Amino acid sequence: MEGRLKGKVAIVTGAAKGMGKAEAELFAKEGAKVVVADVLEDEAKQVADNLNKNGYEAMACKLDVSKSEEWKKVVDTVVEKWGKVDVLVNNAGILSMAGVEDTSEEEWDRVMNINAKSQFLGMKYVIPAMKKAGKGSIINISSIYGIIGTGAAAAYHASKGASRLLTKTAAAEFAKYNIRVNSIHPGVIRTPMTDDLLKDENAAKGLLGTTVLGRPAEPEEVANGALFLASDESSFMTGSELVIDGGYTAL
Ligand SMILES: NC(=O)c1ccc[n+]([C@@H]2O[C@H](COP(=O)([O-])OP(=O)(O)OC[C@H]3O[C@@H](n4cnc5c(N)ncnc54)[C@H](O)[C@@H]3O)[C@@H](O)[C@H]2O)c1
Repeated sequence: MEGRLKGKVAIVTGAAKGMGKAEAELFAKEGAKVVVADVLEDEAKQVADNLNKNGYEAMACKLDVSKSEEWKKVVDTVVEKWGKVDVLVNNAGILSMAGVEDTSEEEWDRVMNINAKSQFLGMKYVIPAMKKAGKGSIINISSIYGIIGTGAAAAYHASKGASRLLTKTAAAEFAKYNIRVNSIHPGVIRTPMTDDLLKDENAAKGLLGTTVLGRPAEPEEVANGALFLASDESSFMTGSELVIDGGYTAL
């Protein structure tokens, strides 16, 4: 079945690589006009050019998700070009594995700004356009690290926990405008972010040892979940957590 997002305009952040790229590509194939937003301008342009070459509709936008002026510019550009925003995937993020004692204040701020403040800013600047359109679907990419602790990655866990609850309160705040807000909690996914970890035998053993399915997922396996939340098929879902983790949190 194709065309599950027909007529919709979707912004995907961090869409130059990894899961964001998979989401942008899948959304375009399902009929959405897609904004490939990333701090990596050239790579984002390549993703968008490739989609356009294949007959889909995409545009690249330079966006550092931690900067409000850049968000304003992107939303204005999209509304000017395509008239509205139906879907926002707050996907961009960075990993920091340090524990509490080894995390500097600068690192804490960097991770919180790019992973958590970014999702607040994205919603703040996109929601006025969604209100005008009378509907919207926002998907905040959290993590299983936003549900459980691991004894490491202090700032990362904190940022993903913030994403999870920001999602729930925004769902309650904007339900009256027909704007749905849900979070996705991926487990171990094979992307540039986890490349080094999965190559390291010990780290991989630790990560996959607690994954019931015993393997990392491909980015497309998370993109399928994002597609469902972006589409009208999930019309009765808001404030919920879609866990896509191969059973990691089942144990
Ligand atoms: N890979 C995993 O196993 C995993 C698991 C759970 C959650 N996640 C989350 O999923 C999301 C995507 O992760 P991924 O594995 O695809 O990562 P990735 O590193 O492969 O890709 C992240 C993308 O975000 C972009 N980005 C980074 N900082 C940015 C900024 N300030 N502004 C705009 N774009 C920026 C990067 O340029 C890159 O294109 C992240 O939020 C991550 O925390 C990943």
